[in-house]
Amino acid sequence: MAVILAAGEALEKAAKLILAGNPVAVPTETVYGLAADATNGDAVARIYEVKARPRFNPLIVHVDGMEMAEGIGEFDPLSRRLAAKFWPGPLTLVLPLKKGADIHPLVRAGLDTIALRMPTGFISRLIARTGRPLAAPSANSSGHISGTSAPAVEADLGARIALIVDDGPTPVGVESTIVKIEGERLRLLRPGGLAAEEIEEAAGLKLERGAPAGVEAPGMLSSHYAPRARVRLNAAEIAAGEALLAFGPKRAKGADAAKAVRNLSPRGSLREAAANLFSMLHELDATGASVIAVEPIPFDGLGEAINDRLRRAAAPRDIESRTA
Ligand code: TXA
Ligand code: MG
Repeated sequence: MAVILAAGEALEKAAKLILAGNPVAVPTETVYGLAADATNGDAVARIYEVKARPRFNPLIVHVDGMEMAEGIGEFDPLSRRLAAKFWPGPLTLVLPLKKGADIHPLVRAGLDTIALRMPTGFISRLIARTGRPLAAPSANSSGHISGTSAPAVEADLGARIALIVDDGPTPVGVESTIVKIEGERLRLLRPGGLAAEEIEEAAGLKLERGAPAGVEAPGMLSSHYAPRARVRLNAAEIAAGEALLAFGPKRAKGADAAKAVRNLSPRGSLREAAANLFSMLHELDATGASVIAVEPIPFDGLGEAINDRLRRAAAPRDIESRTA
């Protein structure tokens, strides 16, 4: 059961939990967030576990200042202007990921863009105290509405986390507005706590609305990283020259002849597998093998989201872009 601590006395305990790789429910000005160290794959996998999300939606990374932000996202004059005007505040900017940024791939669910936000309140102090960017979706289980008070978060997630930081009801009460920078254009991916008109006025631009084909909208996976290789699921037998994405201690028949092998989790931990999924798919694809064979992965817990992602990676490309 979660402990609830007032924001004024929770900083040390919250920081300890974050640095040890645990998610903590914390207030932001918009809604409560389920925050974890964005550089730690195991910690990020725990977020998905606590939320019981059936798929890996990319997460917003929260920063405490422009120095941290510039180390993670590729800013241009337009995004810098929006950040200067509206941060800290209820605006999330989707930017190209900076090369070499220390953000675990599971946070982005394999995308090469990153959603960044500089919030106010307790979470900002927590980022400064830990020195870590914090990945945080809204603190609610999948399909439930976002928690805007500590009791609401407790009722929904209290049994699954160690600490809820209470700073009263959140002042904004709805999630941040998400805007994607597309070169000279701005696209509204999610309306939220900052009015679109205010953004348009500051940018001197109209926001594009709706996602054109091939552009990802929140919650959609259509343009997520898709391997070049064909992906073959539930492989019981491996053909010579295939790359093998393994799971657990026992190998499929023919595994010795694989061109390359990565094991998502030799001890069969779905949390470890989730943390390794995107980077290992990428590594196997980079070997040039024409097929990536994937051993069966259980469907319980995080297995559902892992299988969802693999199914999408295995779908023929044109179908994937239409249905995702
Ligand atoms: O106010 C908020 O934004 C709250 C607080 C905790 O900061 N967070 C929040 O997170 O609402 P979440 O996970 O519930 O919603 C984040 C949305 C998702 O719909 C996700 O698909 C989208 O942001 N998103 C994240 N990264 C993205 C990216 N690279 N491209 C497009 N959409 C992205
Ligand atoms: Mg949410």
